[in-house]
Amino acid sequence: MKAWFRRSGLENGKVGILRTAGGTPPGQPAGPSDFAQGRRWRYGEELMRALASRMSVMSGEGALSVFARAKELEKQGRSIIHLELGEPDFHSSATVNEAAKRALDEGKDRYCAVAGVPALREELAVYLRDTRNLHVSPENIVIAPGCKVALFMALMALVDAGDEVLYPQPGFPGFLSIILGMGGVAVPFELSGRNHFQPDPEEITAKITPRTKALITNSPSNPIGTVYTDAVQRRIAELAVEHDLLVLSDEIYARIIYGGKYVSMMSYPGMEERTLVLDGFSKSFAMTGWRLGYVVAPPPVVPALEMLAINSYTCVSEFLQYAAIEALKDREGATPRMVREFAGRRAQFVRDLNRVPGFRCALPEGAFYAWVNVADTGISAEELCRILLEEAGVAAIPGAAFGPSGAEFVRFSFASSTANLKEAVERILRVSKAWQSTTARSAEKVY
Ligand SMILES: Cc1ncc(COP(=O)(O)O)c(C=O)c1O
Repeated sequence: MKAWFRRSGLENGKVGILRTAGGTPPGQPAGPSDFAQGRRWRYGEELMRALASRMSVMSGEGALSVFARAKELEKQGRSIIHLELGEPDFHSSATVNEAAKRALDEGKDRYCAVAGVPALREELAVYLRDTRNLHVSPENIVIAPGCKVALFMALMALVDAGDEVLYPQPGFPGFLSIILGMGGVAVPFELSGRNHFQPDPEEITAKITPRTKALITNSPSNPIGTVYTDAVQRRIAELAVEHDLLVLSDEIYARIIYGGKYVSMMSYPGMEERTLVLDGFSKSFAMTGWRLGYVVAPPPVVPALEMLAINSYTCVSEFLQYAAIEALKDREGATPRMVREFAGRRAQFVRDLNRVPGFRCALPEGAFYAWVNVADTGISAEELCRILLEEAGVAAIPGAAFGPSGAEFVRFSFASSTANLKEAVERILRVSKAWQSTTARSAEKVY
């Protein structure tokens, strides 16, 4: 396969043919596709036809492309404040790092259980009981290399071509992309400022059809930081039961909330048997690069997730899993400390952003993003982000990267130092004359 790609020039990133002559590519079984029927692909013309159709419906992440441009500017010597990535500026704690080293020294560098090492799954069950009041069996937990892979596997396990999946919009770009990649029909429900960025159960009700298979929730939400209210979650749960829907509850920000107690979608009546909780260590434990996530799934779904693991990553790195146990045990340490720090930054950053002409930002209830309405600047969010990056050296993401209803917004991550956040707003203020002439602040503040 590799040699074949080399021959086609794809290895160098060229857009070109995947095949220069008839016949089946080496290592490819003959099949009904155009490849196997021996058609010719002319260089530079038919790449999209040669790739599986899912590749044309999947999409990347705005954050990653802004990050790439920001890195380019840094290479040219520019100073950039990175507020584009959803990455805590903390690191895994010393005890967790020590545990990883210890596990390696103990020889925990082998293939291990497909669903995850039993000790980690047991600790996760206790952790979810203590922090989320969930009572799940370790057998219902499958460890994955990151929450995104957990989401990918869950959708792959559940979605058939043509199945409709409801998802929050604006939302994490992976929701739409992966639903489409699995051949599903993506049906957005809106998180609108008119509704305090809460899902509207009436809208969801109206969008449920006999083909609706699943619904994705994400509280606290990326990019907005909305923590779904109890009333909204209860109603979504009722709808799920009534219409026999599966709920994929992305709870990756569950520990990062600014007040109140977190309630999982799985805790509502009738939800245990139909909820898949998706979570991971990237945000709550500042372990983005460790690539550790998990799914808590109803028993019939677990073997399907294991089957997907067997067919892809086999198992998650053994020593990382042992180290993750240490992270989970530290309930009162690193995570609450980080969240206290984020709370201070949230207050300061949102207050400062609201001083920028044309910016309107409500306090997020969870996660670490400021979701700023920039409609009053009179320029598009894309143009604004371009000015911020190219002229002010502040990297942020235009809201449309999270769906069309994000078009008038910009997402800033405040998982950056207080000094950086202050400096970022000063820089933004300095370039704000670029749009001040067009600014018409509305009297009524609707976020
Ligand atoms: C809502 C949501 N789900 C999943 C992920 C992916 O997490 P991980 O790094 O564990 O793959 C992110 C990361 O930004 C996210 O915001």
